[in-house]
Amino acid sequence: MTFVANYAVLPAYRGNGVGRKVWTAVMERAGDVNVILDAVPDMLDWYMRNGFPVKGDTTSYYHVTVTSEMLVPTPVPATSCSVEPLDDQLWPGVVRLDQLTYPSPGREPILRAFLVGDGIHTLVARAAGHVVGFGSIHKMWEGHFGLRCVLAQDAHTADQLIRGLLSDLNLRVGNVVHFPLVGDAAPPGVLALGAVEHVITVTRLYSKHLIPIRHKNIWIPVSDIA
Ligand SMILES: CC(C)(COP(=O)(O)OP(=O)(O)OC[C@H]1O[C@@H](n2cnc3c(N)ncnc32)[C@H](O)[C@@H]1OP(=O)(O)O)[C@@H](O)C(=O)NCCC(=O)NCCS
Repeated sequence: MTFVANYAVLPAYRGNGVGRKVWTAVMERAGDVNVILDAVPDMLDWYMRNGFPVKGDTTSYYHVTVTSEMLVPTPVPATSCSVEPLDDQLWPGVVRLDQLTYPSPGREPILRAFLVGDGIHTLVARAAGHVVGFGSIHKMWEGHFGLRCVLAQDAHTADQLIRGLLSDLNLRVGNVVHFPLVGDAAPPGVLALGAVEHVITVTRLYSKHLIPIRHKNIWIPVSDIA
């Protein structure tokens, strides 16, 4: 499979056939594989007429402004899992949970790009020795943070991870958290206590066939190719 991550022409050059040339060249290079893209609403019909007949999930992008209610610590129930920073020992369990959710082969490099790197902070939830969730955040620019993903076995674990991520990066009232949600899911856990702004909804399209995703564990998607 291959993923078309961007398709854009400078505004001053639009409407003159430049986009069509770029599009044709990209599709020729993609070859005879399943091509995936995320369509903005304006372009949805155009893509469906131009080789992307298969509709998948929608993804909505959110901004949430941090409120004081979000920063109140909650008591941790005795049965809860432990939450700790990602390390090499936890990595195989993280890959396993990701594979349960996104069955496509070759996910590990994508996962590594999402979870490991300069400025990325990743937490892993464990219960009875097993990885039962993970989540990751990074600072985008002053006062703005991107929740890159949260996968977890249940809502409580997801909330513990999100609270841990916000607290580890020392978020303050007025900061903004950016994150995507799949389908019509509501902002999970503590994020529902923020001032929520929905930004845009894109629709995943496929050129050949839909790639199924197991939604059960997804609170914030490990975006891109799934
Ligand atoms: C989409 C984009 C790359 C097209 O570039 P362009 O140089 O204007 O395109 P062209 O003049 O070659 O037109 C190509 C086709 O796109 C269609 N198109 C262009 N803008 C469109 C829009 N906003 N909505 C629907 N169709 C559009 C044209 O009607 C044309 O269709 P046709 O070939 O069937 O006649 C350009 O408008 C753009 O950069 N838009 C903003 C970024 C964006 O939304 N990208 C898509 C993200 S999913």
